[in-house]
Amino acid sequence: MTVRVGVIGAGMIGQDHIRRLTDVVTAATVTAVTDIDASRAADVAATVGATALPTGADLIVSPEVDAVLVTSWGPTHAEHVLAAVAAGKPVFCEKPLATTAEDCLRIVEAECAYGRRLVQVGFMRRFDTGYRQMKEVLSSGSLGTPLIVHCAHRNPTVPESYTSEMAAQDTAVHEIDVLRWLLDDEIATAQVITPRATGRRFAHLKDPQIMYFDTANGVRIDLEVFVNCQYGYDIQCEAVGESGLVRLPDPASVGIRTAGGHGTAVLQDWKRRFEDAFDSEFREWIASVEAGAEATGPSAWDGYAATVITDAAVRSLESDGTVVTVDMKPRPALYGGTA
Ligand SMILES: NC(=O)c1ccc[n+]([C@@H]2O[C@H](COP(=O)([O-])OP(=O)(O)OC[C@H]3O[C@@H](n4cnc5c(N)ncnc54)[C@H](O)[C@@H]3O)[C@@H](O)[C@H]2O)c1
Repeated sequence: MTVRVGVIGAGMIGQDHIRRLTDVVTAATVTAVTDIDASRAADVAATVGATALPTGADLIVSPEVDAVLVTSWGPTHAEHVLAAVAAGKPVFCEKPLATTAEDCLRIVEAECAYGRRLVQVGFMRRFDTGYRQMKEVLSSGSLGTPLIVHCAHRNPTVPESYTSEMAAQDTAVHEIDVLRWLLDDEIATAQVITPRATGRRFAHLKDPQIMYFDTANGVRIDLEVFVNCQYGYDIQCEAVGESGLVRLPDPASVGIRTAGGHGTAVLQDWKRRFEDAFDSEFREWIASVEAGAEATGPSAWDGYAATVITDAAVRSLESDGTVVTVDMKPRPALYGGTA
């Protein structure tokens, strides 16, 4: 069977995922597209022979749509995801699941009332080969108990519209999700401190930021978020255990020797860095829909947890580095496990 996908939001990532569902994932086809910019919806739909529909509500109930992809602006996600759950259709929602913890909880409650997982959230790092290898090593127990994780998330530059809060909400949120999954542990506290600021930033921005997280089992995570580092898009992660450590590999790259030096290029953007992860994420999501199985990727609960933890980090930033306790509701049985 070919899974017929309807896409809500035909902007930057929506168009990229439409291309992915059309050219990369063989078991899917995009049959419907909507956007509040109707002409954009019509243009993008025409490129793949899909129908442009007026609203997300129309798209979700369309008989031509088996599964829904939400790639609209964050504040509109909750409405679309809740409508998809009400219609009993699988829904993939780009991060964030919702912009408030309350809206995330409404989705969790709706899904629990439905009694089956329908929602997957777009945290693609869980599908990256390097992170998956790290998880295999950590889960094998060969390093003993994990104790410390050191991470860095660096972007070359960000636009003036990027705010200090976005360092947690849009940037660190990827580490927050992948570390909960890697460690199979929950984040219990968040603290954000701001060292000397780089001169190469817009004046309103606190950059870099150093974030500390403690897990329920006592693992200490430090994360440097530096979004004007100039030299490239660079993701580092190293987990230290009782008897060894495991480190995220850098992307494969040719070695270049020239002009008296040698080195490798550093990627400049997240799209290329995680391209394979995005492809795997969609292949696996479509395979689960095709099989009529529950999604196994990041759940609505993971979306809720990420929002609660980023809220705690923002509160710490706003209170000059206070350690903020993460206040999460009890995890419903539908979501099993620890994290
Ligand atoms: N996983 C990742 O690494 C990653 C990367 C980029 C973006 N994202 C997420 O994807 C989402 C979209 O980001 P983007 O960069 O593509 O933004 P964008 O502004 O380029 O595109 C969003 C589109 O949604 C449309 N839209 C807004 N409200 C709508 C509504 N109610 N109904 C239909 N269409 C609506 C807009 O007109 C626009 O075309 C955001 O939530 C963002 O955080 C995730």
